[in-house]
Amino acid sequence: MASPKSQPRTLHPRLAIIVLSFFSTQPLSSATAAASSSKCTHPPIIFNFGDSNSDTGGLVAGLGYPVFPPNGRTYFRRSTGRLSDGRLVIDFLCQSVKTSFLSPYLDSLGSTFTNGANFAIVGSSTLPKYVPFALNVQVMQFLHFKARSLELKTAGSKDVIDSRGFQEALYMIDIGQNDLADSFAKNLTYAEVVNRIPSVVTEIKNAITAIYGQGGRKFWIHNTGPLGCIPQKLWLVQSKDLDSNGCISTYNDAAKLFNEGLKHLCQEVRSELKDASVVYVDIYSIKYDLIANATRYGFSNPLMACCGYGGPPYNYNINVTCGRTGYRVCDEKSRYVSWDGIHYTEAANSFVASRILSTSFSTPPVAFDSFCQ
Ligand SMILES: *[C@@H]1O[C@H](CO)[C@@H](O)[C@H](O)[C@H]1NC(C)=O
Ligand SMILES: *[C@@H]1O[C@H](CO)[C@@H](O)[C@H](O)[C@H]1NC(C)=O
Ligand SMILES: *[C@@H]1O[C@H](CO)[C@@H](O)[C@H](O)[C@H]1NC(C)=O
Repeated sequence: MASPKSQPRTLHPRLAIIVLSFFSTQPLSSATAAASSSKCTHPPIIFNFGDSNSDTGGLVAGLGYPVFPPNGRTYFRRSTGRLSDGRLVIDFLCQSVKTSFLSPYLDSLGSTFTNGANFAIVGSSTLPKYVPFALNVQVMQFLHFKARSLELKTAGSKDVIDSRGFQEALYMIDIGQNDLADSFAKNLTYAEVVNRIPSVVTEIKNAITAIYGQGGRKFWIHNTGPLGCIPQKLWLVQSKDLDSNGCISTYNDAAKLFNEGLKHLCQEVRSELKDASVVYVDIYSIKYDLIANATRYGFSNPLMACCGYGGPPYNYNINVTCGRTGYRVCDEKSRYVSWDGIHYTEAANSFVASRILSTSFSTPPVAFDSFCQ
């Protein structure tokens, strides 16, 4: 396949984006606490779509692209393909309703898909469409997954999701960060970046509508985090206007505009598809609070990668990224926000997840475990 994407831009560190996501005044224990307090006896089936913020091993399974240690050092104690030292926000959310971590759709060995599937892949964006692994491709993969499951069900298979399972499942989407980052990386002006936002939001609407058309009714949509606080961006961008917390203002402004569009889209979908439940989660505010108030939450160096090269202020170097020859990694006891200069640490992901579970950042304020059956 001579697709331009057979050299996926997702493999380029500038574009391999990111993850966004994550917990609070009891940083290391809150998601766990939420998990154990949940009365969920029948966890929801979950289907997730997105980028590296929620990729639980899809890039590695799909393209064989290696993710080296020290990725995985804190929780799994081996590399699982997650770009973090441990769990991602989606892992904490799954634990909070006592369901297993989602298997990547493309993981053919040892995977079970009885509790759903994860279509998220590192580097994914909404546009361009029809290239691996754009959002619309992930939705097409889901359609295939669903058709195959129902076929197998009809043929007598027991361990596959049935039609009711697909209807009652929770559909999660966390994408958009790479669309913004790609636009900036192409040196588009701020106005040009902003002009592209409505078409990105439209792609997310198309995804929701397509899933709704297949019977899906429950949607959980994450907005995008503060792109301008990512150490990699801070290191890459030469002339930058920094805000009071040391983040790039234009990047964060673009992220906020995208989020306004996404929030509006969620309202629109709620009024057009009356029997759909659409929860919009403000990841941006959670993450920006974590960065601005890092010390209060027990974190340090919120704009510096734990794993990277170069030392302060960002400890990022595109030639020596985490896991590549020459990298340095922070002490296991330290609590950084950024793991590799792009993605968050397990500690930060845990913080974000506990904030998500509080419902204070959700519109409407629906509890995650209300999707338990
Ligand atoms: C963007 O601008 C920078 C600095 O002028 C330059 O080094 C880089 O090659 C440009 N990138 C693209 C994709 O044009
Ligand atoms: C930091 O914490 C203070 C005190 O709780 C709060 O008022 C402020 O909004 C926080 N900053 C951000 C960016 O959320
Ligand atoms: C990265 O490597 C390239 C090619 O060797 C070199 O030209 C560039 O200066 C390096 N950049 C940094 C920041 O070390």
